[in-house]
Amino acid sequence: MLGHRTTTLRFGARRAGTALYLRPRDTSPELGGAMTRGRTHDRHTQGQGQEALAGKVALITGASSGIGAAAARVFAREGARVVLVARREERIAQLAAELRAGGAQASHTTGDVRSPADAERAVTRTVETYGRLDVAFNNAGAGGDLMPLHLTEDASYDLVMDTNVRGVWNCLRHEIRAMIESGGGSIVNTSSVAGLVASRVPAPYIAAKHAVIGLTKAAAVEYAGSGIRVNAIAPGLTRSEMVEDWFARVPGQEARSKASAPQNRMAEPEEVAEAVAWLCSDRASFVTGATMPVDGGRTTW
Ligand SMILES: NC(=O)c1ccc[n+]([C@@H]2O[C@H](COP(=O)([O-])OP(=O)(O)OC[C@H]3O[C@@H](n4cnc5c(N)ncnc54)[C@H](OP(=O)(O)O)[C@@H]3O)[C@@H](O)[C@H]2O)c1
Repeated sequence: MLGHRTTTLRFGARRAGTALYLRPRDTSPELGGAMTRGRTHDRHTQGQGQEALAGKVALITGASSGIGAAAARVFAREGARVVLVARREERIAQLAAELRAGGAQASHTTGDVRSPADAERAVTRTVETYGRLDVAFNNAGAGGDLMPLHLTEDASYDLVMDTNVRGVWNCLRHEIRAMIESGGGSIVNTSSVAGLVASRVPAPYIAAKHAVIGLTKAAAVEYAGSGIRVNAIAPGLTRSEMVEDWFARVPGQEARSKASAPQNRMAEPEEVAEAVAWLCSDRASFVTGATMPVDGGRTTW
């Protein structure tokens, strides 16, 4: 079951730019009709301080730590109203409170992405709270057991596929429904370099992250005509609790993992979140069906 807390501190005043072209949904009743939104392109102000996600309503799954939590901070900084989803309520409640204390609009709703009902409720609550859904970052994921393929338990396979693939499936369907109703939107799914190449991570994880890219392409093609862009990111090694724990348990793994990419280091979660924010924004208006590596060059050699 989903729990829900919502607190709205302020409706941030967004800088209005001069609209060079407007699409029908650029004029939002919530914004008083006259205020330009992030979707309104202004070639004179873009990249010169205007918030990339100004006025957007964004749903982020897997927001309780790592890349998802970083995305919540980056999206809020870029002017989005954010709804945070994960199972650990205390974490997302604290993060939402932190964002509100910083002047953003943020709420949270606990949920397990493996549950179709939870996914539906997260989208419904977002629309009930903020009136629409413009942006979704389907980021919740699970890595699985580091075991040879033939020794991996079915339960481990199921956990990885259910979280990474069915989780994206569950969320996508309801997000798309909401976005069709409001005239369009942008979705980013978290794949991995393991969705592009096989590496020394569990086989079910590699299969799952390849499937995320397949779902991303299918949805991009199917809903381009509805004004919905669907893209994926393929992060490389990124600092997270899971990765830190792995390094602590396996001597020498940190150096080996870092050396697998030309930049020879691990990303901070914020570096991945920045790429996601761009993909979600109207600055990426002609990008759909793409998978963007954010990997320090890992998949180039
Ligand atoms: N770190 C890397 O090197 C790396 C590289 C490539 C791709 N990725 C991908 O990036 C995404 C984020 O991972 P991370 O690195 O930031 O690790 P993380 O800190 O462990 O984050 C995983 C997030 O997913 C959530 N989650 C897991 N199972 C869930 C479920 N059933 N329902 C709802 N939420 C669930 C977790 O929250 P709760 O436990 O609170 O539910 C947590 O917020 C994942 O999809 C991962 O596969 C990570």
